[in-house]
Amino acid sequence: MKQFFVTVLPQNRRLTADEGDNLLELLREYGTAPDAPCGGYGTCGKCLVYVDGIRILACEVRIDRDMTVELPLE
Ligand code: FES
Repeated sequence: MKQFFVTVLPQNRRLTADEGDNLLELLREYGTAPDAPCGGYGTCGKCLVYVDGIRILACEVRIDRDMTVELPLE
C-alpha cells in the first residue's frame, strides 16, 4: 500500500497516511481534528480545512497524494 505525507499547518506536523485514508480520521488520530459534530457524514460543514490551498470538508477527503492541510484558526 502506498503511503503519503500530510503536512498539517499551523502546527507544521508531518503525518504519515496510507493511500485512501480519510483525512478527518487521520487528523483525529493525531489529536488535531477540527470540530466534527456530524461525525464525518458531510452534513455539518464544520470540518472545513484547506488542502493545498483549496477549501474542502476534511471528512470528504481521501488521501491520494502528499498534501498540505491548513486548519482554520480558532
Ligand atoms: S464532519 Fe461534518 S461535514 Fe465533515
